Amino acid sequence: MSLFPTTARFLEQVKNRLPIEAVIGKRLKIERRGREYTALCPFHDEKTPSFWISPQKGFYHCFGCGAHGDALKFIQDYEKRSFKDALEVLSSEAGIPLPQLNPQEAAKAQQNQTLETAMSAAQRWFESQLYSPMGAEARAYLARRGFTEQTIRRFGLGLAPDKYEGLKSALTAEKYSIETLTEAGLLIAVDGKSPYDRFRGRLMIPIKDRRGQVIAFGGRALKPDQEPKYLNSPETPLFHKGSNLYAQDAAFAAMSKSGTALVVEGYFDAIALHQAGIAHVVAPLGTAMTEEQIRTLWHQVDTVQLCFDGDKAGAKATWRAVQRALPYLKTGKTLQFLALPPGEDPDTLVLKGGAAAFTNIIEHAQSLSQFIYSWTVAEHGADTPEQKASCLAAFQETTDTIGDAVLKRLMLQELKDRFYQETRPVPKAKGTRFEKNAPKNVNTAPLPRPDSFRLRAQRALMVALCIHPLLVDEVAETLAQLEFFDKELDSARDALLNATANPSAVMHTILGFQTNDRLLASLQQEWPFTKPQTNSDDVRSAWLALANSMLAEVVTAELRPKRRLFRF
Ligand code: UTP
Ligand code: MN
Repeated sequence: MSLFPTTARFLEQVKNRLPIEAVIGKRLKIERRGREYTALCPFHDEKTPSFWISPQKGFYHCFGCGAHGDALKFIQDYEKRSFKDALEVLSSEAGIPLPQLNPQEAAKAQQNQTLETAMSAAQRWFESQLYSPMGAEARAYLARRGFTEQTIRRFGLGLAPDKYEGLKSALTAEKYSIETLTEAGLLIAVDGKSPYDRFRGRLMIPIKDRRGQVIAFGGRALKPDQEPKYLNSPETPLFHKGSNLYAQDAAFAAMSKSGTALVVEGYFDAIALHQAGIAHVVAPLGTAMTEEQIRTLWHQVDTVQLCFDGDKAGAKATWRAVQRALPYLKTGKTLQFLALPPGEDPDTLVLKGGAAAFTNIIEHAQSLSQFIYSWTVAEHGADTPEQKASCLAAFQETTDTIGDAVLKRLMLQELKDRFYQETRPVPKAKGTRFEKNAPKNVNTAPLPRPDSFRLRAQRALMVALCIHPLLVDEVAETLAQLEFFDKELDSARDALLNATANPSAVMHTILGFQTNDRLLASLQQEWPFTKPQTNSDDVRSAWLALANSMLAEVVTAELRPKRRLFRF
């Protein structure tokens, strides 16, 4: 946000008068550590402090969730206040009067405030209509769809009656001018005629900004033949479709806590997931995901999960979102992809299968590289040399757009590795390629040609279990489901599961080496959870995450109709 010069000067004065540790210390229990202070981070759940305050820099930073900012940002985020409100809080706590805004700024601030109160008044009125006798049908509709009264209240749903002058007469009676209501997008003016209600005969879904202020509405048709199905507020001084997200206020806490945001397609998908207790969920506003929305989310969380309809259009929309996101990809930030069963959306899925049905989908999230790989191969095919060449060119073209140089290189390598692994003829069953290449003198020989990601990952899974054999029982079910294409790995797995071998002998087989060789070292560098000193809780969670992602890949491949269409 670019500050007006007067505001910037004011903040400078505040900083001198009111140290950041005083602002935060007033709200959290802070502890001095040398020149800095620590606290339990209020933006995610933690038991030991990773939240640091630097009086010298006037900043706080959380090493756990990445929350970061100055005193003003802290007040905005911690107390969910607008920029202006937070300025006022600082002004009163520092005892420095807020600077006069220039007349233009002041007029704009005033106008926005009026629009905000009009939107809030409209929301209250729509809500009152839903609970009036006229709302019986709409309430029955919501109940049929499985929404509880608590959820309906929490999301402030309402009803716009099928009238041209419903909201209009109610709000003009409350002294809102026709101009304000039109500017707010609540009334619509068609060639010179007197403005009338934009939303008629619709279920009203308030769209709020991060502080919970209503800035727009989505109106869902209540009759089957009513067009369009969703009518949304137009762009207004308060509402910019491309930069806001539905349910961003409701999702805020869960997003900061989990470091993950889940993007679904529809308003009711978001509401249904929140109702099911899956709370890090937001939705775009009647448009495809924009670059700005992705960047905003990456600002708040590390992982953005995209979950769109499983048809070709949904996959295409997701691919476009990926294309928009890649230039902003950087270390620590990523995308994941959720595959819905055909014909379902998150709303119908939790209605039928409860939260568990969706949690299962989340657990099988595809990684960014898996998604790029599958999409590209589905688009270009990989049977003929010509198709293979266009796949490779497409990998290059796609990864070229990644902004971060290191990630760009690693992603391309990963895609190519997997491509070569999967498109080469199936090897004969006797022995692994790796064993054939295994050098005799392990200390001086170069490492053999890198094996595919899949093989390395599977080897890492097995090595981790050999080092932590007590985990075998706990993960046995998952271990049994993994599909090992490598014969040796496959029988090593059976041996572990049946406890017919001691783990170190199994490990020997897996690696084909002494256990202290360079292969093990490189494996441990790539997969830190295979290091002996990793504690078993961390090993367990890393192991399960990796194993589940490999299972998800198989699931996705099975779901995918042959070559023609990619669904996820
Ligand atoms: P869908 O048509 O998938 O509807 O639109 P839905 O969300 O599943 O709604 P229900 O469950 O049938 O009630 C997905 C999203 O696309 C936008 C809306 O944001 C909607 O939630 N949309 C759809 C529009 O903006 N206008 C439309 O006419 C249709
Ligand atoms: Mn739906």
